[in-house]
Amino acid sequence: MSERAQQIHTQQEYIKLVDEMVEHDKHYYDECKPLISDFEYDQKMHELICFEKQHPDWILPYSPTQRVSEGATKGFVQRTHLVPMQSLGNTYSENELGDFVKRVLKLLDRKEVDFCCELKMDGTAISLTYKKGQLSHALTRGNGQVGDDVTENIKTIKSVPLKLTGNNIPDVMEVRGEIFLSLATFHALNAQREEEGLEPFANPRNAAAGSLKLLDSREAAKRKLNLVCYAIAQDQSPRDTQLETLEYLRDLGFPVSKPEHVSKASNINEIWNFAQKIHHLRELLPFEIDGIVVKVNDLRAQDILGTTGKTPRFAMAYKFESEKAITRVNDISVQVGRTGVLTPVAELEPVHLAGSMISRATLHNADEVKRLDIRIGDWVVIEKGGDVIPKVARVEFSKRPIESKSWKMPTSCPVCQAAVVHREGEVAIRCPNPKCLGQRVRKIFYFASKQAMDIEHMGERVVEQLVKKGLVSRISDIYLLDENKLAALEGFKEKSIRNLLESIERSRNCPLSRFIMGLGIKSVGNETAELLADNMRDLDHLLQITEKELLEMDGIGEKTARLIADYFRDADHREEIRLLLQHGVTPQRVKKKIVIGHAFSGKALVLTGSLENYTRDEASRLIKERGGHVSDSLSKKTDYLIVGSDPGSKFDKAQKLGIQILSEDQFRRLVES
Ligand code: IVH
Repeated sequence: MSERAQQIHTQQEYIKLVDEMVEHDKHYYDECKPLISDFEYDQKMHELICFEKQHPDWILPYSPTQRVSEGATKGFVQRTHLVPMQSLGNTYSENELGDFVKRVLKLLDRKEVDFCCELKMDGTAISLTYKKGQLSHALTRGNGQVGDDVTENIKTIKSVPLKLTGNNIPDVMEVRGEIFLSLATFHALNAQREEEGLEPFANPRNAAAGSLKLLDSREAAKRKLNLVCYAIAQDQSPRDTQLETLEYLRDLGFPVSKPEHVSKASNINEIWNFAQKIHHLRELLPFEIDGIVVKVNDLRAQDILGTTGKTPRFAMAYKFESEKAITRVNDISVQVGRTGVLTPVAELEPVHLAGSMISRATLHNADEVKRLDIRIGDWVVIEKGGDVIPKVARVEFSKRPIESKSWKMPTSCPVCQAAVVHREGEVAIRCPNPKCLGQRVRKIFYFASKQAMDIEHMGERVVEQLVKKGLVSRISDIYLLDENKLAALEGFKEKSIRNLLESIERSRNCPLSRFIMGLGIKSVGNETAELLADNMRDLDHLLQITEKELLEMDGIGEKTARLIADYFRDADHREEIRLLLQHGVTPQRVKKKIVIGHAFSGKALVLTGSLENYTRDEASRLIKERGGHVSDSLSKKTDYLIVGSDPGSKFDKAQKLGIQILSEDQFRRLVES
């Protein structure tokens, strides 16, 4: 790499390299089509960093190296919006949407008006100001007049252009958009927070807003925020319509909604068709939306319509109601996680909701139980928003049985009866006993799970039996299992024994990153595990790793570095790894590319029927590359069934089981997302 650092010498060569890297980022992040290999990209980036170290005064503010600020923690400065940030009038009713259309026609005194229909992104609003094509500052909505300057955090978002492209760049422009988190990133973030004893975010919107307000931009960078733009508050560009605005924004390098998520409509019927189409699509989108926004397309007409103080007259949001069902809480159980965190779970009377049977819903932690004031025997409203995970929205207090008592977290672990602990400053209540059977089962199950060693047929029930019968008490014991031992398991016959032993055998040569994942090191998810694997010479290197070395890896902060180094210093952990190796586990160093946070990541997919544009092998490869798992047989555990033409009986079975069905077109869109 150091040879390449010699290749640029002049300021001009430097500018050229910066521009080239900006272009690569755009292809990688916006279009998901990298032009060069990761290796070449890393080399060029290294070259850029080296050169900038030698010539700090030449550093361009839009250089990709400037995305993460090294600046110290600071509070937020407040600034005034050049144009106030308004909110939108909204409705849940088709009739009121019709009234909006009639009102617009009347006010404009026209028989027909074109509308631009868009997704209503469920994130947090942002205003981005560009001066001479460079990002100058980014403000939150605040009170609409004055917002917080969150520029440093915004700069860490890869999809935010630091420098605009195209020929038509205005001197000053203020662009409006939404900062959001994909559902996959949101769930990963919450899972990590729950493990760390922090309160999970209620929804992706709160998570996005909270992340924008993080004072340390390096922390914000890890949250993987995203941007989509939908309006220009001020510029001098020649545009006549909202649809042209979106095109223009795209040309300047801003991320805007995909063309299939925007539609021109000339009357209420067309608007309604769009609303219906998007409503159906909602569950398949990798991010949350809460409705659609309908805007008068002609910008001059928008000006004529003006505003009613708080909201513009030219636009209206039509919001989707989330699907709801009412059911009874039969019990509130408590699960013990692999790190000892106790999670209350509502055990519900099974009920149908948005295409699937729901019988459980997590209540996250004791604070949430208190907030909802949920009790055993209560009737509750459960709902599914854009997200596929149902949640308890509220209790029907009018139906509460008189004799009900408020529910309290147990004071001892429901599995090992150890007295629980509540650390100061944490929301979580934990079982402190590392030998707890519950924790052990979860640890071993996690090690065997799809995201780690991927040992098929080793579900939670099987692990529970193995631990209870004393056949497995630590993860390395898995590799000492044989036919005789497995014969002791309930329901295990020749074939199931063979299947399980074969899966265990296959897992011996797992990729190093999955092995690291399986260890269950606190704060180490998929991404950090991959990062560690990519940066390690071998497992020995990992066992000797120091905090200093870890901190040099881009993407590992102080806290994670300490947790990792501590983990590998611990004698018990070292012994476990030694035993795993001794029992024939040989993790492999492979550099493979998995898209993290993709809708398929960690999901089980099954194919049926023939696809028009993909062979089976191609479709399987695309799924695997995105972190998914392809299986031949359909079961309750299947997440998606992809249906081609002439589907087999799997189609009917999937419908009965309430499994999400994807058409080839929906599959393609998810592949490309
Ligand atoms: S246009 C005058 N378009 O919804 C306001 N807003 O409830 C101009 N939002 O504050 C906003 N998707 O944060 C517009 N396609 C979209 C949107 C959108 C989401 C948000 C935005 C706004 C809020 C109003």
